[in-house]
Amino acid sequence: MPQTVQGVIAMAQGEPVTIADVVIPDPGPGEAVVAIQACGVCHTDLHYREGGINDEFPFLLGHEAAGVVESVGAGVTETAPGDYVILNWRAVCGQCRSCSRGRPQICFDTHNASQQMTLTDGTVLSPALGIGAFAEKTLVAAGQCTKINPSAAPTAAGLLGCGVMAGIGAAINTGGVSRGDSVAVFGCGGVGDAAIAGAALAGASIIIGVDIDDRKLRWAETFGATHTINSADCDPVEAIKALTNGNGVDVAIEAIGLPETYRQAFESRDLAGTVVLVGVPHPDMTIELPFIEMFGRGGALKSSWYGDCLPSRDFPMLIDLYLQGRLDLDGFVSETIGIGDVEEAFTKMQRGEVLRSVVVL
Ligand code: APR
Ligand code: ZN
Ligand code: ZN
Repeated sequence: MPQTVQGVIAMAQGEPVTIADVVIPDPGPGEAVVAIQACGVCHTDLHYREGGINDEFPFLLGHEAAGVVESVGAGVTETAPGDYVILNWRAVCGQCRSCSRGRPQICFDTHNASQQMTLTDGTVLSPALGIGAFAEKTLVAAGQCTKINPSAAPTAAGLLGCGVMAGIGAAINTGGVSRGDSVAVFGCGGVGDAAIAGAALAGASIIIGVDIDDRKLRWAETFGATHTINSADCDPVEAIKALTNGNGVDVAIEAIGLPETYRQAFESRDLAGTVVLVGVPHPDMTIELPFIEMFGRGGALKSSWYGDCLPSRDFPMLIDLYLQGRLDLDGFVSETIGIGDVEEAFTKMQRGEVLRSVVVL
């Protein structure tokens, strides 16, 4: 029997989100229905509402979630009812040209549920990133459910489903930060602070947080920044060189998505250093860089998609580190809110008042 639950819907571009009844079909082959316990509010949810992702309104928002699998469809072996899971937005196919070469973390054919969730009048909903978890229940592909240790608090665990994983993975998976490295992170929001936490976990000896907001810089210190720079007051490239014997950092991570700060990251790395772009640029942006410097400095210019994570490998491991007290996921939870408070959470996010607001269901 299809179920009807409440969910947060973006009906039209720029309009405040509303709560509506959402019809969740029974899971079909390869699908699972998950009872959501907590879901973080991410910039991408706001981008959907503003029409910045695509025009497929109405959207069922929410995609950084943890919950319990309620039921699964025919042939599902990846997960079972009762599993405590983080939802991922890249269920790997196992067969594409990347998976078949042993690189599932960059699967080119990830998938979502095949059936659709609707409003009660039959209007088809587009779930944000194929998840749609600002709802009491949602329908996903079984491969989007990654089982984790049930002792982890859902408010913290869900955040690994998107922004926090993106930041940690930018440092560890994409940037390859390792013991003794120097790292600079541009932008100390949720994603940048996660990159700082990731660099600290990996054993970096110098971790420099760069932001234009002093409050963000204080938070960055709590996640492991050894130094902070307010780039509204000074040239961050000079300041980073001054902290690294004039050399620059081994890994420079851009967690904002602006050409100006990408250029600062590019200029603040040491010879043979790595630049990682995890901030998402606007489609209209372009960037100009001195071509000879791209060659002459060597190293690597990389982008980090979902922190280059493999959910089945990274989520349980990071949850274990959280439970051991080595990764402060709770520190990212600025507030817990109800399902009716998402619009207000967008406003707080835009004002920079929170790292993450988390909806508890
Ligand atoms: N220089 C330095 N810091 C800046 C600048 C700038 N020119 N402009 C903005 N910032 C800082 C803000 O003060 C804020 O602390 O960047 C930070 C961005 O953080 P959030 O807005 O909280 O965004 P976050 O959730 O961390 O995501 C960052 O990653 O996944 C992407 O879409 C996401 O592009 C976004 C980026
Ligand atoms: Zn694949
Ligand atoms: Zn997100």
